[in-house]
Amino acid sequence: MAYILGSRQAQYLTIKGRKLIIFSSNDYLGLSHNPDVLMAAKEALDRFGSGTGGAPGTSGTTEIHENLASEIARFKNRHSGVVFPSGYAANAAIHHSLAEKNAVFFYDEKSHPSAVDGIRLSRCDCEPFGHLDFDHLENLLKKSHHARKIVSVCSVFTIDGVICPLNRLAGLKEKYDFILILDEAHATGCIGETGRGLEELYSLEGTADFIMGTFSKALGSQGGFIAFSKEAEHFLCRYFRPFEYSTAISAPVAAASLKALFILKNQPELVGKMKANIDNIYHRLSESGFNLNEPGRHIVNVYFDSEKQTLAVRDRLFESGYFVIPINAGSRHGLRLTAMTVHSENEIDSFCSALIDIKKSL
Ligand SMILES: Cc1ncc(COP(=O)(O)O)c(C=O)c1O
Repeated sequence: MAYILGSRQAQYLTIKGRKLIIFSSNDYLGLSHNPDVLMAAKEALDRFGSGTGGAPGTSGTTEIHENLASEIARFKNRHSGVVFPSGYAANAAIHHSLAEKNAVFFYDEKSHPSAVDGIRLSRCDCEPFGHLDFDHLENLLKKSHHARKIVSVCSVFTIDGVICPLNRLAGLKEKYDFILILDEAHATGCIGETGRGLEELYSLEGTADFIMGTFSKALGSQGGFIAFSKEAEHFLCRYFRPFEYSTAISAPVAAASLKALFILKNQPELVGKMKANIDNIYHRLSESGFNLNEPGRHIVNVYFDSEKQTLAVRDRLFESGYFVIPINAGSRHGLRLTAMTVHSENEIDSFCSALIDIKKSL
C-alpha cells in the first residue's frame, strides 16, 4: 500500500501532517524541485497546457519535446533520441521493435520487469542468464543458432545498485556479435564522472547499440527515452508502438526534463555531490557494524535478520522523522537507502545516528 503524501519538496515529505526526510528517493540530484526546473515547467504549462491531447502522430508535438529527444541523444553520444511516456514504455518499445523471426533475447535474471515484459511482447525466444553471470551468458551464446542475438542488461541494478561490468560484456560482444541494450534508468545522472552512464564510467563509448533510460529518476521528472546511433537504426524492425499509440508526456513535464538535463550538463559536480553523500552514509553505517551491500554504489542496502525486524526498523525511523523503503533482495530483507545532492551534512549525520541508535536497541 502506498503512503499518501500531503506534500513533497525535494527531500522533505509530509504524511498525515508529519514532516519527514526521505532517504530512499530516486530523485538522486534533487532536480524535481530545482527552481529553474520548476520555472521551465510553469512556462510550458502556460504555453501548452497540462496535456498533449494525444500521441505525437495525431496531436502534433512541441519544440520542447523535439529538443528533449535531441538533447538526450547528444547527452548519450548518439545520433537519435525518442521520448516515451515512461521508462516502462521505452523498455517495452525497444525490445519489441528489435524482434524478428529468428531472434533470441538473452537477459539478466534481475532485469527490470519492463524489459522482461518487452521481451514477452516480442514473442521471440528468450534465455535468462544468472545475475551478471557472463560465463553463463557465454555458454548460452555459444549454443544459440539464432541469426539475431540480443543481450539486455541494466547498467545499474535497481534494488542494490550493482554496476554491470561493461568491459566483460564488450569482450563478449566482439566475440559473438550481438545487439546490446543497456537500461540506464539508475545510471543516467548517477555514474560516470559527468553522469553520462556506464559507457562513460568504463571509457567504452559506443559499446551499446541501444541505450534506454528514464527522466523519472536523477532527472527528477517523468518519461522514458531510447538513444541510438545511425548505424544501429537498421536493426529496428518496426517503429515504436508505445510512441505511436500512447499520449506523449505533457509539455511541462518535457520542459522540466529538458531543463534538468541542461543543469546536469552544466553542473556535473552534482553527480559527485550525491556520490559523496551516499559514501558518507555507507562509511558511517559500516563503521557501526551494519550488514551492508558492497561499497562504491549509489544505492546502499542495510540488511536485517528478518522481514519483521526490517519493518520494525522502518517504523522506528518513521517515528524519528525519516522515510525509507524496505526491500526483499532474494532471501535477504533490508532497507534500500539512497542519498540526494540536497541532503545536508546535518541531515545525513542525524539520520545515521538515528539508525545506529535503533540498531543498538534491537
Ligand atoms: C531499471 C529500471 N528500468 C526501467 C524503469 C522504468 O522507468 P519508469 O519508472 O520511468 O517507467 C525503472 C523504474 O523503476 C527501473 O528501475
